[in-house]
Parts: sequence; C-alpha cells; structure tokens
Amino acid sequence: MKRKKDNRAEYSGRRAKKQSGREAGGESGQILAKSGKKTGKKPKQPGRDASGKKPGQPGRHVSGKRPEQPGKRAIGKKQVWRGGNMLYPVPAVMVSCARKGERPDIITIAWAGTVCSNPPMVSISIRPQRYSHDIIEETGEFVINLVTEKLARACDWCGVKSGRDTAKFAAEAKAQRDEAAGMKKVPDGTSEMAAPEKLTAGKASCLEAAPIILESPVSLECRVKQKIELGSHDMFLAEVVCVDVDEAFIDSKGRLDLDSAGLIAYSHGTYFGLGKKLGTFGYSVRRREG
Ligand SMILES: Cc1cc2nc3c(=O)[nH]c(=O)nc-3n(C[C@H](O)[C@H](O)[C@H](O)COP(=O)(O)O)c2cc1C
Repeated sequence: MKRKKDNRAEYSGRRAKKQSGREAGGESGQILAKSGKKTGKKPKQPGRDASGKKPGQPGRHVSGKRPEQPGKRAIGKKQVWRGGNMLYPVPAVMVSCARKGERPDIITIAWAGTVCSNPPMVSISIRPQRYSHDIIEETGEFVINLVTEKLARACDWCGVKSGRDTAKFAAEAKAQRDEAAGMKKVPDGTSEMAAPEKLTAGKASCLEAAPIILESPVSLECRVKQKIELGSHDMFLAEVVCVDVDEAFIDSKGRLDLDSAGLIAYSHGTYFGLGKKLGTFGYSVRRREG
C-alpha cells in the first residue's frame, strides 16, 4: 500500500504544495528523512537504507547544511526555495524491459534524458525498489518508448502499477486475468485498464530480452554501460544501439516527421500535448520571412 502512496506523490508536485511548496516534483521524503522524520518506505534491498542508498553513500545534501526554507529569503520578486527537482518540462516515457522467458514489464519514467550525442547515450533514473530496476540491472537492457497523446493514459497507468503484481502488456494482462478466473476465458478489453490500451510487446531489433512497445511511434533500444547510485535513485547510463521508427512518421524523402506523432511532455505533475510551434533550431538568427 505504501508503494502506491509513494507513486502518487513522487513526480507529481502535489505533496510539494502541501509541504509549503519547497519541492515541486516530489523527492521530499529524502529531505524529511534527513531531518529525522520518517517518510520513506523500508528498504527492499539488503544493504540499502530507507531512501534506497547504501550506508555511507552521500545523500543529496552532502554539505550538511540545512537546505533553504521557502519564503525566508527573496531576491526581487523571487522567493528562494531549497533545492528540489524543478527542471520542467521533462519527457514522460514508457521504459520496457524483461528477463528472458519471463513476463515483460513497463515502467513510466520522467527522470530521463539525453546525455551524449556520439556515442548516442541516454540516462534513466530508477528507485531500487521498483520491480523493473533489478530486471534492467541484471539484463543490462531497456527500451525507451516515446509517448503520444493516445498513449498518455497507458503511460500514467504503468506509472502507478507495479509489474511485481500486475501484467502491463495486454497479452500478459489477459493471461493474468484468465489465470485469476480459473482459466475461464474473459473477453478482451475487460481488464482494469491495460487491455483497452493494447500495449503490445514486439521483438526488439538489437536487444536479446527487452521488448519494444509496438504502439509507440519511436522506440530507443538501449544497452546499459554504467549504473551510478545517486541516492534515492540509481541512474542507468546507456547507449542507444538502435531506434525503431513507425513508418507512418517517415515521409517520402525518408525524413522523420515527429510533429505529427502527437508526443506529450510532463510538467510539474501534469501531462501536456505539445503546444504551438514557435520556431526551428537557429530561427533566432535567421532572416525573417516577409
Ligand atoms: C509520470 C510518472 C513519472 C515517473 N517517473 C519515475 C522515474 O523517473 N523513476 C522511478 O523510479 N519511478 C518513476 N515513476 C514511478 C514508477 O513508474 C512506478 O513506481 C511504477 O509502478 C514502477 O513499476 P515497476 O514496479 O513495474 O517497475 C513515475 C511515475 C509516473 C506516473
């Protein structure tokens, strides 16, 4: 039960408001834990403390100074808040993974980013308590599946359900329901959520075990190069070994037209469709038309 609570508060920014707005986007448990109040769940992994880090490993406030209180200082019209996760918008992506021969999993990730052009590399940060964490650690593989407006609901659902007890791909969800119903066949589309979205696992082109999500317009197949234990989250640095692109978004000249895919962004607890186009790379220095 506690895990669900954690899911809802983190990345949402809601708890931040209640706790005087100091940490939009969550992560507040860590600071409270530092000040002696217990908020985090018990460690799942041996040798980890409640925030998921190993003893002796520095948390976020390594200086030992108390972080800034909100509203205590101001510079002009800006209140000075203590450090928190405020980098928005971010992508919200569905990361798929699997051990060979086992039920695949999908985790929704907001703490993801591009970190290098050559070789093409990305990072995703995952709490060690997540079911997907150990799968990715053991297999060294994952797939970042971009999310469209059509897939936004499924993306959110994968972010509040754990693969530990819930199958997230439609086929596996159906099998799970059948098993729960004593092998009595249940019509497709009657599951609590996953089946209507019909998330389908497809064979990856370059990876051994992790599947791609067929409904996603672009899937980045990634091989883990390094795991860095940061504190609450472990960051997986990975090389993008190949990218699977839906032909529907490739124009006649072979160019990728992502504008028409309807991708989403995530900002301070809210999913957004992308807004109006403002300009393209370098438009600020180009001669204006007309
Ligand atoms: C929008 C959103 C973003 C999330 N971002 C992250 C993240 O970056 N890292 C993380 O560990 N969990 C994140 N979560 C929580 C996980 O997706 C959630 O705990 C999920 O149930 C884990 O699934 P698993 O146990 O099958 O791995 C996010 C959830 C949502 C809804």
